[in-house]
This record gives sequence, structure tokens and C-alpha cells, in this order.
Amino acid sequence: MGRNKLPQRVKLVDVGPRDGLQNEKQPVSTGDKIELVHRLQAAGLHEIETTSFVSPKWVPQMADNSAVMEGIERQPGVRYSVLTPNLKGFEAALATRPDEIVVFSAASEAFNQRNINCSIAESIERFAPVTEAARAAGIKVRGAISCSVGCPYEGEIAPERVGLVAKLMKQIGVDHVGVADTIGVGTPHRVQAALEAALEHYPLEEVSGHFHDTYGMALANIMASLELGIATFDTSVSGLGGCPYAKGATGNVATEDVVFLLHGLGIETGVDLDRLIDAGTFIRGVLGQPNGSRVARAVLAKRAG
Ligand code: HMG
Ligand code: MG
Repeated sequence: MGRNKLPQRVKLVDVGPRDGLQNEKQPVSTGDKIELVHRLQAAGLHEIETTSFVSPKWVPQMADNSAVMEGIERQPGVRYSVLTPNLKGFEAALATRPDEIVVFSAASEAFNQRNINCSIAESIERFAPVTEAARAAGIKVRGAISCSVGCPYEGEIAPERVGLVAKLMKQIGVDHVGVADTIGVGTPHRVQAALEAALEHYPLEEVSGHFHDTYGMALANIMASLELGIATFDTSVSGLGGCPYAKGATGNVATEDVVFLLHGLGIETGVDLDRLIDAGTFIRGVLGQPNGSRVARAVLAKRAG
């Protein structure tokens, strides 16, 4: 595919149930989490990051991980992914039959220490047996690279550091890497440089963008990614979320806003925007929060009128 030709179809991974909800201090019932997943799949999302198998002491909101995975009525063609930071998490996850697991490290040492309590090198050592076990079980492994352009503790991150983590992930057999702008400070050319560093080790279809929208740059960064041919993005319904280890970080770019952008560009997503907006309205209603998607707010205002 030519680098300047936009992809015709884009795969969206809704990470709302995991990245979105993990940061919520108020309890969200297992039933509401399951309902959110059901609404996302009904809206046409084929990839749903459902929960994480991390320490409940670190992230209490994800403590019902197994119950969420067991409670979902799976829809054929939908892939359910979960985060697994170590073998303990992987073993618990395996029993719930995920389609994909996510190991996560960072391009910044300081962030990695605060997020998973180990160095980048140690995280790769921990992921090696997880990746091996997942592959043996026929489960795809995605690797997330946090702080790919900027870090709350280390400041600007050079693309070479993203390239290094991508290379290490490749060496242990991780199938796909997600370039994450955890704190949303990236701007288009810097994001392209981070993606290009990952593309030195992975093919286009195995690199994705994961952009938090803290500074309002996520849609511009998605456009810049599309121009490189990147065709997979993590997004979060109604812009849910933040990061517990990155103060002030807001949610991922809202799925609704990305769908509107992509459909406007003539790019297929398979997503029904109206049903997606209803899913976002549902979860924001549960949380008692305003909707973080500008597209959802506009459509809801139009419907009310
Ligand atoms: P640790 O304390 O270094 O682990 O935590 P440990 O191996 O020393 O174990 C300590 C205790 O945790 C033990 O229990 C273990 O059994 C338990 P105790 O004996 O004290 O009762 N434990 C676990 N329990 C459940 N599930 C597990 C597990 N592992 C150990 N998997 C650990 C290391 C990684 C577990 C911890 O630091 C942790 O859970 N961190 C949470 C990190 C997290 O979830 N962050 C948010 C997700 S990442 C993210 O949002 C970024 C992303 O969106 C991309 C982006 O935007 O940048 C992906
Ligand atoms: Mg994230």
C-alpha cells in the first residue's frame, strides 16, 4: 500500500471497558461493565478490550475481571482482549478464554516503574514466558508501548526509544505493537516519528495508534497516522478514561469522534454511529458524567431538538 493513500477500512479497538473504566474511583457493577460490552458489540465494534488481569491492589476497578469475561455473551466475529502484565495475570486470563492478550511496557523507564513496578528490561523478561504461553494457546499478543512521545516524569521521549521497545517486543514474539501517547502531548509529526520507529520492526498492519486526548490532539494524530497507512486505532466510547499513573491524563480519543472522522473520509469501520452513541450515553449515565465525545454531544443535541 502506498504511504500517501489512506486505508479504505480501519479497525477500531474499543478500550473503554478497560482503559476507560480502570481509572474510575466509584464502583461500577460487573453487570454494567457487561452491558457496556454488549452495547459496543451491538454497535458493530469487532474488537473490545474488555478488562485487565492486573493486581486488584493496584487497580481495584478491574478486580472483577473474570466475572466480566465469564458474563459476556460472546458474539461471533468479535474479539475480546485483556491486559496481562505477568504470568499470574495470564494464567487467570487464560481460564476466561480471551482472543488476545496485551502486555504493556513503556518507552520511559520512570513511567514503567510507576505503572508496573519494574524496569523496561525486566518487563520484557516477564513478558517472554507470557508471550510464549499465549502463542502456544493460539492467543494473539499485542504489546502496548506507553509514553511513546512524552512522559509525565521524563518529558519528551525520542522515537529511538519507541524503536528499542518495539525491537525487544519483536524479539520475544509479540505479534503487534500499539504506540501509545499516554498523556496526549503528541502532535502529528512527533507521533509519525514514533510510529515510524515501530514500523522499523513491525509491518503496517501490526502497528496501531493509542492516543489519549488530553491536549485535544488525538484526531490530528489519527489523521497523521492514516497518512502513514496505519489502519488500527484504540479508542474509547464517549472518551472514557484516564491513566492512574499519569496525573491529569484524560481518556482515549472518543470512538464516536473517530468514527465520524473516518466515515467523513469515506473509510469503513463497520460501526453504527447511532448505536455507539447510545452505548456512550448508557455508560456515562451509569457514571453520572457528561459525555466526553463532541460528536455524541452534537448528535444528542440534534436528537433532542
Ligand atoms: P508487584 O507488586 O511488583 O508484583 O506488582 P509482585 O509480583 O511483587 O506481587 C505482589 C502482589 O500482587 C502479590 O500478592 C501477587 O500475588 C499479586 P500478595 O502476595 O501481596 O497478596 N499479583 C497479582 N494479582 C493479580 N493479578 C496479577 C498479579 N500479579 C501480582 N496479575 C504488577 C506488579 C504488574 C502486578 C502491578 O504493578 C500492577 O498490577 N500494576 C497495574 C498496572 C496497570 O494496570 N496499569 C494500567 C494499565 S496500563 C495503561 O493503562 C496504559 C495503556 O492504556 C497504554 C497507554 O495509554 O499508555 C495500555
Ligand atoms: Mg491508555
